[in-house]
Amino acid sequence: MLGLIFIAAVIHTSSSANVASNTNMTKSLKVLVSSKDFPESGMQVLKEHFTVLQSRYINFGEEGLTKNREELLNLIPGCSALVWVSHHPITKELLDRAGPQLKIVSTVSAGYNHCNVPELKARGIKLSNTPNVLSAAVAEIAVALMLGTARRFTENLEQVRRGEWEIGFDKVLGQDIAGSTVGIIGLGGIGQAVVKRLHGFEVGRFLYTGHREKPEAKDLGAEFVNLDSLLTQSDFIVLAVPLTDETRLMINKTTLAKMKKNAILINVGRGELVDQDALYDALKNKDIYAAGLDVTSPEPLPKDHKLLTLPNIFVLPHIGSATVHTRDSMAVLAAKNVVNALNGKPLLTPVLE
Ligand code: DGY
Repeated sequence: MLGLIFIAAVIHTSSSANVASNTNMTKSLKVLVSSKDFPESGMQVLKEHFTVLQSRYINFGEEGLTKNREELLNLIPGCSALVWVSHHPITKELLDRAGPQLKIVSTVSAGYNHCNVPELKARGIKLSNTPNVLSAAVAEIAVALMLGTARRFTENLEQVRRGEWEIGFDKVLGQDIAGSTVGIIGLGGIGQAVVKRLHGFEVGRFLYTGHREKPEAKDLGAEFVNLDSLLTQSDFIVLAVPLTDETRLMINKTTLAKMKKNAILINVGRGELVDQDALYDALKNKDIYAAGLDVTSPEPLPKDHKLLTLPNIFVLPHIGSATVHTRDSMAVLAAKNVVNALNGKPLLTPVLE
């Protein structure tokens, strides 16, 4: 018994020693965090292991493209990892400035269309993202947009603001989710989370499309169909696919024309999945019923953009993953990917390894 305790103590001591020596070994490695608003939870993980540099600016909007861009170019030389906190593109210029010791880019997002994958690949730099931890939050926003568009929140809120409520039994009639057909384009983590959340809404049918059938679909009660069938049969169409060359502008004049007159389009993927001019025409002419967008192109959408003049649209400023808990989980996962990459361990959520 004593012998076992001794062996356990030796194993424990030597593994703590390993962690300590790994931490000591990595402490001299520099990690750059691209935005001053990266959550403290992620900073703590990074600071335990590395020397952490952080931009004094935010990596979003104008500031991200101006002051912050300069700051990052100054800070990145000699860094071994870059934690990327926004959707601004990762430029060749920044990678050149970093130097050959840059081992990993860890983007704090599920989407990685902004990460210049071919350039990272060519340079042998690893890339990780933060999928799964945000699926619930983004799915909640998709459902919120479904409700907001089906029940005409934009028009109704306007009426309340103006103090001019429409009255009568047939006022501002909307559509039901109950009994409807919901089509999900992209039954990945977010698409599946949407279906799970809608199970209590008594949806009539769930359809989905994508490259291949998903094993999870059976338990979710979702039928695999081709894109055309989904477009022609669905009352709600939820876009939950990544932005790639294949998916860019997949919702356009032609695909919009295949949708039902009462169709509601929801986009929680990326703005560039949709041809916004064609969407404007379809909404204006009432070829489809409504659209709910958490993502647009560009972001922010200018306040005088023609889409915002329409009553049958509900636009949010890309807040899919914006909850305290989810942003913390994203930050910690992004930091842990850096810890693994710089300790020669497999990435937890690899895009390029
Ligand atoms: C993502 O993670 O890609 C979402 O758009 C939130 O940033």
